[in-house]
Amino acid sequence: MKNQLTKADSPKKITVIGFGLMGAQISQVISLAGYRVLAYDVDSKRLQSGLSLIRSGKYGLENSVRNNRISKESAENALSKISTSESLEDVLSGADFILEAVVEDLDTKRGIFLKASQIASKEAVLASNTSTISITKIAAVLDPASKKRLVGMHFFNPPQIMKLVEIVRTEDTGVEIIEKVREVAVELGKTPVTVLDYPGFVANRIGISVFMEASDILSKGIASVRDIDISMRLGYGYPMGPFELGDLVGLDSRLRNMEALYDETKEERFKPPELLRKLVSEGYLGDRGSKTESKGGYYEYFGLERPSKEIGK
Ligand SMILES: NC(=O)c1ccc[n+]([C@@H]2O[C@H](COP(=O)([O-])OP(=O)(O)OC[C@H]3O[C@@H](n4cnc5c(N)ncnc54)[C@H](O)[C@@H]3O)[C@@H](O)[C@H]2O)c1
Repeated sequence: MKNQLTKADSPKKITVIGFGLMGAQISQVISLAGYRVLAYDVDSKRLQSGLSLIRSGKYGLENSVRNNRISKESAENALSKISTSESLEDVLSGADFILEAVVEDLDTKRGIFLKASQIASKEAVLASNTSTISITKIAAVLDPASKKRLVGMHFFNPPQIMKLVEIVRTEDTGVEIIEKVREVAVELGKTPVTVLDYPGFVANRIGISVFMEASDILSKGIASVRDIDISMRLGYGYPMGPFELGDLVGLDSRLRNMEALYDETKEERFKPPELLRKLVSEGYLGDRGSKTESKGGYYEYFGLERPSKEIGK
Protein backbone atom coordinates (compact mmCIF):
# COMPACT_ATOMS: atom_id res chain seq x y z
CA MET A 1 0.00 0.00 0.00
CA LYS A 2 3.06 2.25 -0.01
CA ASN A 3 2.24 3.78 -3.38
CA GLN A 4 -0.94 5.35 -1.98
CA LEU A 5 1.13 8.00 -0.24
CA THR A 6 1.21 10.31 -3.25
CA LYS A 7 -2.48 10.41 -4.08
CA ALA A 8 -3.64 13.35 -1.96
CA ASP A 9 -2.72 16.91 -2.86
CA SER A 10 -3.01 19.21 0.18
CA PRO A 11 0.34 20.71 1.21
CA LYS A 12 -0.53 20.32 4.93
CA LYS A 13 -0.17 16.85 6.30
CA ILE A 14 -0.30 14.99 9.58
CA THR A 15 1.11 11.55 10.16
CA VAL A 16 -1.18 9.43 12.31
CA ILE A 17 0.36 6.38 13.99
CA GLY A 18 -2.26 3.87 15.17
CA PHE A 19 -5.45 3.62 13.14
CA GLY A 20 -7.83 2.14 15.71
CA LEU A 21 -10.93 3.82 17.08
CA MET A 22 -9.29 7.17 17.90
CA GLY A 23 -6.63 7.27 15.18
CA ALA A 24 -9.20 6.66 12.45
CA GLN A 25 -11.81 9.03 13.81
CA ILE A 26 -9.25 11.80 14.37
CA SER A 27 -8.00 11.23 10.82
CA GLN A 28 -11.53 11.95 9.61
CA VAL A 29 -11.50 15.27 11.52
CA ILE A 30 -8.05 16.15 10.17
CA SER A 31 -8.92 15.37 6.55
CA LEU A 32 -12.19 17.31 6.74
CA ALA A 33 -10.12 20.31 7.85
CA GLY A 34 -8.16 20.06 4.58
CA TYR A 35 -5.04 18.26 5.73
CA ARG A 36 -3.57 15.17 4.16
CA VAL A 37 -3.36 12.21 6.53
CA LEU A 38 -0.70 9.54 6.28
CA ALA A 39 -1.81 6.74 8.54
CA TYR A 40 0.07 3.71 9.79
CA ASP A 41 -0.99 0.79 11.97
CA VAL A 42 1.03 -2.28 12.91
CA ASP A 43 -2.06 -4.38 12.10
CA SER A 44 -3.06 -4.04 8.45
CA LYS A 45 -6.63 -5.14 9.25
CA ARG A 46 -6.99 -2.02 11.37
CA LEU A 47 -6.10 0.09 8.34
CA GLN A 48 -9.12 -1.41 6.57
CA SER A 49 -11.48 -1.29 9.54
CA GLY A 50 -10.35 2.28 10.28
CA LEU A 51 -11.31 3.38 6.77
CA SER A 52 -14.69 1.63 7.17
CA LEU A 53 -15.23 3.47 10.44
CA ILE A 54 -14.49 6.77 8.68
CA ARG A 55 -16.85 5.91 5.84
CA SER A 56 -19.74 4.25 7.59
CA GLY A 57 -19.26 4.43 11.35
CA LYS A 58 -21.81 6.08 13.58
CA TYR A 59 -19.98 9.43 13.36
CA GLY A 60 -18.55 8.70 9.91
CA LEU A 61 -18.78 10.56 6.63
CA GLU A 62 -21.87 8.82 5.25
CA ASN A 63 -23.94 9.72 8.30
CA SER A 64 -22.58 13.27 8.27
CA VAL A 65 -23.77 13.65 4.66
CA ARG A 66 -27.12 12.05 5.50
CA ASN A 67 -27.59 14.50 8.41
CA ASN A 68 -26.60 17.47 6.21
CA ARG A 69 -23.59 18.26 8.36
CA ILE A 70 -21.28 18.12 5.33
CA SER A 71 -21.73 17.88 1.54
CA LYS A 72 -21.09 14.71 -0.44
CA GLU A 73 -18.18 16.49 -2.16
CA SER A 74 -16.54 17.37 1.18
CA ALA A 75 -16.90 13.75 2.29
CA GLU A 76 -15.32 12.43 -0.91
CA ASN A 77 -12.59 15.04 -0.74
CA ALA A 78 -11.83 14.15 2.89
CA LEU A 79 -11.62 10.45 2.10
CA SER A 80 -9.27 11.12 -0.82
CA LYS A 81 -6.88 12.92 1.53
CA ILE A 82 -6.35 9.88 3.73
CA SER A 83 -3.58 7.48 2.72
CA THR A 84 -2.62 4.37 4.61
CA SER A 85 0.67 2.56 4.75
CA GLU A 86 2.03 -0.63 6.25
CA SER A 87 5.46 0.94 6.60
CA LEU A 88 6.24 3.01 9.68
CA GLU A 89 9.43 4.30 8.04
CA ASP A 90 7.45 5.59 5.04
CA VAL A 91 4.96 7.60 7.08
CA LEU A 92 7.67 9.00 9.34
CA SER A 93 10.15 10.03 6.69
CA GLY A 94 9.84 13.78 6.14
CA ALA A 95 6.91 14.02 8.57
CA ASP A 96 6.60 17.34 10.38
CA PHE A 97 3.56 16.64 12.56
CA ILE A 98 3.13 13.20 14.10
CA LEU A 99 0.07 12.27 16.10
CA GLU A 100 0.34 8.95 17.91
CA ALA A 101 -2.85 7.06 18.79
CA VAL A 102 -1.57 3.52 19.35
CA VAL A 103 -2.64 1.13 22.08
CA GLU A 104 -2.33 2.51 25.62
CA ASP A 105 1.05 0.97 26.47
CA LEU A 106 4.09 2.93 27.63
CA ASP A 107 6.74 0.83 25.88
CA THR A 108 4.85 0.81 22.57
CA LYS A 109 4.51 4.58 22.67
CA ARG A 110 8.16 5.03 23.63
CA GLY A 111 9.19 2.83 20.69
CA ILE A 112 7.12 4.91 18.25
CA PHE A 113 8.52 8.24 19.44
CA LEU A 114 12.07 6.94 19.56
CA LYS A 115 11.77 5.92 15.93
CA ALA A 116 10.02 9.19 15.02
CA SER A 117 12.85 11.16 16.66
CA GLN A 118 15.33 9.31 14.47
CA ILE A 119 13.45 9.34 11.14
CA ALA A 120 11.11 12.35 10.99
CA SER A 121 12.11 15.99 10.45
CA LYS A 122 14.21 17.32 13.35
CA GLU A 123 11.59 20.03 13.87
CA ALA A 124 8.60 17.67 13.80
CA VAL A 125 5.91 17.97 16.45
CA LEU A 126 5.72 14.68 18.36
CA ALA A 127 2.19 14.51 19.77
CA SER A 128 0.53 11.73 21.75
CA ASN A 129 -3.21 11.22 22.13
CA THR A 130 -2.75 9.18 25.30
CA SER A 131 -5.50 9.53 27.91
CA THR A 132 -3.61 8.15 30.87
CA ILE A 133 0.11 7.71 30.23
CA SER A 134 2.44 10.38 31.55
CA ILE A 135 3.97 12.35 28.67
CA THR A 136 7.04 12.85 30.86
CA LYS A 137 7.44 9.07 31.17
CA ILE A 138 7.22 8.64 27.38
CA ALA A 139 9.82 11.42 26.98
CA ALA A 140 12.30 9.65 29.27
CA VAL A 141 13.73 7.59 26.37
CA LEU A 142 14.23 10.59 24.06
CA ASP A 143 17.28 12.81 23.61
CA PRO A 144 17.01 16.35 25.06
CA ALA A 145 16.18 18.02 21.70
CA SER A 146 13.38 15.52 20.98
CA LYS A 147 12.00 15.86 24.53
CA LYS A 148 11.26 19.50 23.72
CA ARG A 149 9.08 18.40 20.81
CA LEU A 150 7.01 15.85 22.73
CA VAL A 151 3.56 17.00 23.79
CA GLY A 152 0.15 15.52 24.58
CA MET A 153 -2.65 16.28 22.13
CA HIS A 154 -5.58 14.67 23.86
CA PHE A 155 -8.82 14.37 21.90
CA PHE A 156 -12.06 13.13 23.40
CA ASN A 157 -14.23 10.36 22.01
CA PRO A 158 -15.98 10.77 19.63
CA PRO A 159 -13.51 13.34 18.26
CA GLN A 160 -15.88 14.25 15.40
CA ILE A 161 -18.27 15.62 18.05
CA MET A 162 -16.21 16.54 21.11
CA LYS A 163 -14.67 20.01 20.86
CA LEU A 164 -11.99 19.79 23.54
CA VAL A 165 -8.30 19.13 22.97
CA GLU A 166 -6.03 19.08 26.01
CA ILE A 167 -2.53 20.16 25.09
CA VAL A 168 -0.40 18.41 27.68
CA ARG A 169 3.00 19.96 28.27
CA THR A 170 5.91 18.55 30.22
CA GLU A 171 8.55 20.66 31.94
CA ASP A 172 10.56 20.29 28.70
CA THR A 173 7.96 20.94 25.99
CA GLY A 174 8.94 23.97 23.90
CA VAL A 175 6.58 26.95 23.70
CA GLU A 176 6.73 26.90 19.90
CA ILE A 177 5.54 23.28 19.93
CA ILE A 178 2.59 24.16 22.19
CA GLU A 179 1.76 27.05 19.86
CA LYS A 180 1.90 24.82 16.78
CA VAL A 181 -0.40 22.23 18.38
CA ARG A 182 -2.75 25.00 19.44
CA GLU A 183 -2.91 26.33 15.84
CA VAL A 184 -3.60 22.88 14.44
CA ALA A 185 -6.28 22.14 17.07
CA VAL A 186 -8.06 25.39 16.19
CA GLU A 187 -7.85 24.58 12.47
CA LEU A 188 -9.49 21.23 13.27
CA GLY A 189 -12.38 23.14 14.83
CA LYS A 190 -11.39 22.30 18.40
CA THR A 191 -10.93 24.44 21.48
CA PRO A 192 -7.56 23.69 23.06
CA VAL A 193 -6.61 24.11 26.70
CA THR A 194 -3.04 23.79 27.94
CA VAL A 195 -2.33 21.67 31.00
CA LEU A 196 0.77 20.44 32.77
CA ASP A 197 1.36 16.68 32.62
CA TYR A 198 -0.56 15.29 35.62
CA PRO A 199 -2.39 11.95 36.14
CA GLY A 200 -5.74 12.12 34.32
CA PHE A 201 -4.80 15.59 33.03
CA VAL A 202 -7.82 17.85 33.76
CA ALA A 203 -11.08 16.78 32.14
CA ASN A 204 -10.81 13.03 32.84
CA ARG A 205 -9.59 13.63 36.39
CA ILE A 206 -12.60 15.78 37.22
CA GLY A 207 -15.00 13.67 35.12
CA ILE A 208 -13.85 10.48 36.86
CA SER A 209 -14.26 12.13 40.27
CA VAL A 210 -17.87 13.02 39.43
CA PHE A 211 -18.47 9.49 38.13
CA MET A 212 -17.03 8.02 41.36
CA GLU A 213 -19.35 10.11 43.50
CA ALA A 214 -22.33 9.22 41.28
CA SER A 215 -21.42 5.51 41.59
CA ASP A 216 -21.22 5.81 45.37
CA ILE A 217 -24.66 7.44 45.51
CA LEU A 218 -26.03 4.67 43.27
CA SER A 219 -24.48 1.89 45.37
CA LYS A 220 -26.08 3.31 48.53
CA GLY A 221 -29.52 3.24 46.88
CA ILE A 222 -29.93 7.00 47.25
CA ALA A 223 -31.06 7.61 43.65
CA SER A 224 -31.38 5.78 40.34
CA VAL A 225 -28.99 6.16 37.41
CA ARG A 226 -31.61 8.22 35.61
CA ASP A 227 -32.34 10.51 38.55
CA ILE A 228 -28.63 11.07 39.19
CA ASP A 229 -28.13 12.02 35.54
CA ILE A 230 -31.14 14.34 35.56
CA SER A 231 -29.88 15.94 38.79
CA MET A 232 -26.61 16.91 37.14
CA ARG A 233 -28.32 18.11 33.97
CA LEU A 234 -30.86 20.31 35.76
CA GLY A 235 -29.05 21.14 38.98
CA TYR A 236 -25.63 21.85 37.51
CA GLY A 237 -26.33 22.57 33.83
CA TYR A 238 -24.37 19.52 32.63
CA PRO A 239 -25.41 18.62 29.06
CA MET A 240 -25.24 14.95 30.11
CA GLY A 241 -25.18 13.15 33.45
CA PRO A 242 -22.21 10.98 34.55
CA PHE A 243 -23.82 7.64 33.57
CA GLU A 244 -25.02 8.85 30.18
CA LEU A 245 -21.52 10.12 29.52
CA GLY A 246 -19.99 6.83 30.67
CA ASP A 247 -22.27 4.95 28.28
CA LEU A 248 -21.35 7.32 25.46
CA VAL A 249 -17.57 7.07 25.82
CA GLY A 250 -17.72 3.30 26.44
CA LEU A 251 -17.65 1.57 29.81
CA ASP A 252 -14.59 -0.54 28.99
CA SER A 253 -12.69 2.57 28.08
CA ARG A 254 -13.94 4.35 31.21
CA LEU A 255 -12.82 1.38 33.33
CA ARG A 256 -9.37 1.36 31.71
CA ASN A 257 -8.96 5.09 32.36
CA MET A 258 -9.97 4.65 35.98
CA GLU A 259 -7.63 1.71 36.50
CA ALA A 260 -4.78 3.73 35.00
CA LEU A 261 -5.55 6.73 37.20
CA TYR A 262 -5.77 4.48 40.27
CA ASP A 263 -2.49 2.72 39.38
CA GLU A 264 -0.76 6.04 38.89
CA THR A 265 -2.07 7.77 42.03
CA LYS A 266 -2.92 4.83 44.34
CA GLU A 267 -5.66 7.06 45.72
CA GLU A 268 -8.75 5.14 46.94
CA ARG A 269 -11.00 7.84 45.52
CA PHE A 270 -10.07 6.70 42.01
CA LYS A 271 -10.56 2.96 42.62
CA PRO A 272 -13.02 1.74 39.95
CA PRO A 273 -16.50 0.90 41.33
CA GLU A 274 -17.39 -2.82 41.54
CA LEU A 275 -20.58 -2.28 39.53
CA LEU A 276 -18.60 -0.82 36.62
CA ARG A 277 -16.35 -3.91 36.63
CA LYS A 278 -19.43 -6.18 36.69
CA LEU A 279 -21.07 -4.37 33.77
CA VAL A 280 -17.93 -4.57 31.63
CA SER A 281 -17.35 -8.26 32.46
CA GLU A 282 -20.96 -9.02 31.47
CA GLY A 283 -20.62 -7.26 28.11
CA TYR A 284 -22.27 -3.95 28.94
CA LEU A 285 -19.71 -1.82 27.18
CA GLY A 286 -21.86 1.24 26.55
CA ASP A 287 -22.08 2.83 23.15
CA ARG A 288 -18.98 1.87 21.17
CA GLY A 289 -20.15 2.66 17.62
CA SER A 290 -19.20 -0.12 15.26
CA LYS A 291 -16.14 -1.21 17.25
CA THR A 292 -17.52 -3.89 19.51
CA GLU A 293 -20.66 -5.80 20.28
CA SER A 294 -22.20 -4.30 23.39
CA LYS A 295 -25.30 -5.06 25.41
CA GLY A 296 -25.62 -1.32 26.09
CA GLY A 297 -24.67 0.54 29.23
CA TYR A 298 -26.06 1.49 32.64
CA TYR A 299 -29.50 2.25 31.21
CA GLU A 300 -29.82 -1.13 29.52
CA TYR A 301 -28.49 -2.94 32.61
CA PHE A 302 -31.11 -1.34 34.85
CA GLY A 303 -33.83 -1.41 32.13
CA LEU A 304 -34.31 2.35 32.36
CA GLU A 305 -35.30 4.83 29.70
CA ARG A 306 -32.72 7.52 28.96
CA PRO A 307 -33.74 11.05 29.94
CA SER A 308 -35.06 12.84 26.86
CA LYS A 309 -32.68 15.21 25.05
CA GLU A 310 -34.88 18.15 26.00
CA ILE A 311 -34.31 17.80 29.75
CA GLY A 312 -31.89 20.52 30.72
CA LYS A 313 -31.85 22.22 27.30
N1 LIG B 1 -11.02 5.29 23.20
C1 LIG B 1 -11.14 6.46 23.78
O1 LIG B 1 -12.20 6.85 24.26
C2 LIG B 1 -9.95 7.39 23.83
C3 LIG B 1 -10.17 8.76 24.05
C4 LIG B 1 -9.07 9.63 24.06
C5 LIG B 1 -7.78 9.11 23.89
N2 LIG B 1 -7.61 7.76 23.71
C6 LIG B 1 -6.24 7.27 23.51
O2 LIG B 1 -6.05 6.98 22.14
C7 LIG B 1 -5.11 5.91 22.00
C8 LIG B 1 -5.73 4.82 21.14
O3 LIG B 1 -6.92 4.36 21.77
P1 LIG B 1 -8.06 3.63 20.92
O4 LIG B 1 -9.28 3.64 21.75
O5 LIG B 1 -8.10 4.19 19.53
O6 LIG B 1 -7.48 2.15 20.87
P2 LIG B 1 -7.65 1.02 19.74
O7 LIG B 1 -7.36 -0.25 20.41
O8 LIG B 1 -8.95 1.17 19.03
O9 LIG B 1 -6.49 1.37 18.70
C9 LIG B 1 -5.14 1.22 18.98
C10 LIG B 1 -4.43 0.86 17.68
O10 LIG B 1 -3.03 0.85 17.90
C11 LIG B 1 -2.50 -0.13 17.04
N3 LIG B 1 -1.14 -0.45 17.44
C12 LIG B 1 -0.73 -1.24 18.47
N4 LIG B 1 0.62 -1.27 18.49
C13 LIG B 1 1.05 -0.48 17.48
C14 LIG B 1 2.33 -0.13 16.97
N5 LIG B 1 3.46 -0.59 17.54
N6 LIG B 1 2.39 0.69 15.91
C15 LIG B 1 1.27 1.14 15.30
N7 LIG B 1 0.03 0.83 15.72
C16 LIG B 1 -0.07 0.03 16.80
C17 LIG B 1 -3.49 -1.28 17.14
O11 LIG B 1 -3.33 -2.18 16.04
C18 LIG B 1 -4.80 -0.53 17.12
O12 LIG B 1 -5.31 -0.38 15.81
C19 LIG B 1 -4.75 5.47 23.42
O13 LIG B 1 -3.55 6.11 23.80
C20 LIG B 1 -5.92 5.98 24.25
O14 LIG B 1 -5.54 6.30 25.59
C21 LIG B 1 -8.67 6.89 23.65
